[in-house]
Amino acid sequence: MKTLVTDSLEKAVELLSKGELVAIPTETVYGLAADALNETAVKKIFEAKGRPSDNPLIVHISEIEEIIPLIKNFPSMAQKIAQKFWPGPLTMILKKSDLIPEIVTAGLDSVAIRLPSMPVTRELIKKFGHPLAAPSANLSGRPSPTSYRHVLDDLDGKIAAILKSEDCSVGVESTVIDLTSTPVHLLRPGKITAEEISDFIEEKVIIDKSVDHFVSDLKEVRSPGVKYKHYSPKTKVVLVKSSSKKFANFVNSNPDCVAVAFDEDSKYINTEFVSYGSESSQNDQLRLLFDSLRKIDNFNKKIAYVRLAPNLNLAVFNRLLRASAFNVIDDL
Ligand code: TXA
Ligand code: MG
Repeated sequence: MKTLVTDSLEKAVELLSKGELVAIPTETVYGLAADALNETAVKKIFEAKGRPSDNPLIVHISEIEEIIPLIKNFPSMAQKIAQKFWPGPLTMILKKSDLIPEIVTAGLDSVAIRLPSMPVTRELIKKFGHPLAAPSANLSGRPSPTSYRHVLDDLDGKIAAILKSEDCSVGVESTVIDLTSTPVHLLRPGKITAEEISDFIEEKVIIDKSVDHFVSDLKEVRSPGVKYKHYSPKTKVVLVKSSSKKFANFVNSNPDCVAVAFDEDSKYINTEFVSYGSESSQNDQLRLLFDSLRKIDNFNKKIAYVRLAPNLNLAVFNRLLRASAFNVIDDL
């Protein structure tokens, strides 16, 4: 299959209507979209990504009202959160209605819904007239795509088209919260933090253990996606908690590695180096993280050491833990 790279919304709508897959930009990461109400189309998502069929997808809408037919009921807490944080990088898990095909939710009785803020994404969903099921548009296990080039690298020839737009401004996937029971649980951290949500609803938000711990008992996992190895370059990744200078000495004496650290570290490092933003800007780190993880493989080295700073953003830490398969050196 030849993958069309286009900026035409009409073309994207035409292909989606035919049950084809189109990679679409959102403010978080590029998504791999299909008509959420077309079972055959959704099946293609799992095939193209090599995604395990027990890992459910997020359903994307363009206005809050569009959620009504997709869920059993709209609890007042969920309504309040939607009014405040949508459109934006937040996904809510709610009890599903019968309209959503089982394949979308991997057989669960709940569905993940998100209203993205990027204007082109909302316009596309509006023009299309149906909700879009879309996981991140990477091959399963690879870092999520934050530019259309990343999508091409992973899925060229496997999908009908890529709706090309600017790079994703947030850079990590949406925050996922579970509202099917109380208290609210955070299943995946993103740019919107548990603290922001908790301050707003004036109730505690429980951060799921899997967010920053290795959970070996699968029965304890509330979000199926957590079980899988994620975000990994081909090169082995090891996280290192250390000061800038100690880290530089360590990587400089190790000829077969790539150093991944902050802009401020570059002056001490004289081996292959990839920056994931300024140590003082969490937004930079979120935006650059996945591109940095993809860059690691360009060097053909045995190992990549990533410097962790104190107070690292939880979403960045969560993705790095998975990219490294929880391989962390606590001190040098
Ligand atoms: O920012 C994002 O959320 C991007 C863009 C494209 O919208 N999408 C995305 O989708 O990251 P994906 O499929 O890569 O991640 C969805 C996560 C997975 O960890 C999945 O297990 C979880 O959400 N999820 C989906 N439905 C769920 C449900 N009903 N219950 C629990 N977890 C669910
Ligand atoms: Mg994903």
